[in-house]
Amino acid sequence: MDQATGLRNLVKSNNAATGNSSGRPISRVITVTSGKGGVGKSNTSINLAIQFRKLGQRVIILDADFGLANIEIMFGAVPKHNLCDLIYQNKNIREIITWGPMEVGFISGGSGIAGMSNLGRDYLTYIIQNLAELDAIADIIIVDTGAGISDAVLEFLVASGEILLVTTPEPTSITDSYSLLKALNRHNRFDRDYSQIKVVANKVDSDSEGQALFNKLNAVVNRYLHLPITYLGAVPQDQQLVKAVMQQMPVSIQNPSAKSSQAYETIAAKLMNIDTDKLHKRGMAAFFSHIVTTAKKAQA
Ligand SMILES: Nc1ncnc2c1ncn2[C@@H]1O[C@H](COP(=O)(O)OP(=O)(O)OP(=O)(O)O)[C@@H](O)[C@H]1O
Ligand SMILES: [Mg+2]
Repeated sequence: MDQATGLRNLVKSNNAATGNSSGRPISRVITVTSGKGGVGKSNTSINLAIQFRKLGQRVIILDADFGLANIEIMFGAVPKHNLCDLIYQNKNIREIITWGPMEVGFISGGSGIAGMSNLGRDYLTYIIQNLAELDAIADIIIVDTGAGISDAVLEFLVASGEILLVTTPEPTSITDSYSLLKALNRHNRFDRDYSQIKVVANKVDSDSEGQALFNKLNAVVNRYLHLPITYLGAVPQDQQLVKAVMQQMPVSIQNPSAKSSQAYETIAAKLMNIDTDKLHKRGMAAFFSHIVTTAKKAQA
């Protein structure tokens, strides 16, 4: 049995052991991404997390942007541990979660995920078993990715049942969003029936500007990629959000009546109202084993 098969079996037996195959809820994994950097991924991740908490959901954010520790800066809290410690310090998953404002859990990726393809089976087994525990801790796991079209980002996207693509009205943001979708569409593991792509229009001046932005992107995506994407909604350009970022507090907490906070509230409610039976939820263990086994195959 090769390692990839072994890991898949492990996930299957984990699911059976926890009763997932008999309908026990598993986490909904939502990956937030963008073609161009600096368009608002981390703000989208953290504010949707707060809004989901207000709706009674248990939420964990995984900061998978290895370059810059975005989320922790916006939280104003420095986590003691990251995913590497799970591997090298023998910590368990609960020990590496930092609890931030409104009890949003936060896991710093560190360089942990990038190095996983070099790990032996025992380590991977340990990690996957630990990550499976997140399904019991969180209803929703939000993965904040780095910007751009790297292999690592694409691996996260193909493993996600839901992809939130953040785009702004800047022409370069729209073309970079298209390039990201084109690369994703070409990926040999991408399954358009599995991963739903939802567009968030950020930093817009009006709702109609958001809708127009989506229409523009959708027209080229439809024409050249034949890929279904849907419009989730718009977040306005908001000085209150900028102020909140400066004060290292999510705007949804600092100023719940700010127009951006209200937009995040609407988007979170919309995400909660969709028919989740139609969503492909595999939970966190399967999400990671997908990433790790793919990385291993690429190395082989
Ligand atoms: N709706 C908004 N209104 C006003 N400013 C915004 C809005 N969204 C984001 N910004 C500004 O853009 C900056 C970058 O946002 P954020 O850090 O969320 O982007 P990102 O996509 O995560 O960036 P990176 O690619 O570097 O990870 C914020 O610090 C803020 O100043
Ligand atoms: Mg970011």
